[in-house]
Amino acid sequence: MALRKIVYIEDELLRKKSRPVEKFDEKLHKLLDDMAETMYHANGVGLAAPQVAVLRRVVVMDCGDGLIEMVNPEILETEGEQDGAEGCLSVPGRRGMVKRPMKVRARFQDRNGEWYEIEAEELLARCIMHETDHLDGQLYVDIMSREIFEDEEEEAEEDGE
Ligand code: NI
Repeated sequence: MALRKIVYIEDELLRKKSRPVEKFDEKLHKLLDDMAETMYHANGVGLAAPQVAVLRRVVVMDCGDGLIEMVNPEILETEGEQDGAEGCLSVPGRRGMVKRPMKVRARFQDRNGEWYEIEAEELLARCIMHETDHLDGQLYVDIMSREIFEDEEEEAEEDGE
């Protein structure tokens, strides 16, 4: 495994649409392993392949319940709404408020090409939406309702919110 270099918001690669994975080979497995290592090393909860300069439909995430790898993920259905803070490893030092669905049903392939379906809520639903957006060249800053400033988060903590 190896750490990959994360590309940042100015990079136009982040604005491109990623292509579906067709070969479930050693190269894909290496990409998934490297992406997980890179995500954990950067203390992130999710990472999409374009963030490491690979324009393929591959994401990894860990919202606290272990590593999830998704190849060719597709959102099938969404329900409800949640408003919450979001950040991105490609947008360091910033956070913003983003409205996302409360529930998401998605399908995806694993590293061997097997199809799965997942129903996710709350943080995991948010994470799936954020990461699949990356595959279509969209960043959370495009759809956030407002920026969150550091002193504001400290104040909120002091208030016990
Ligand atoms: Ni991101």
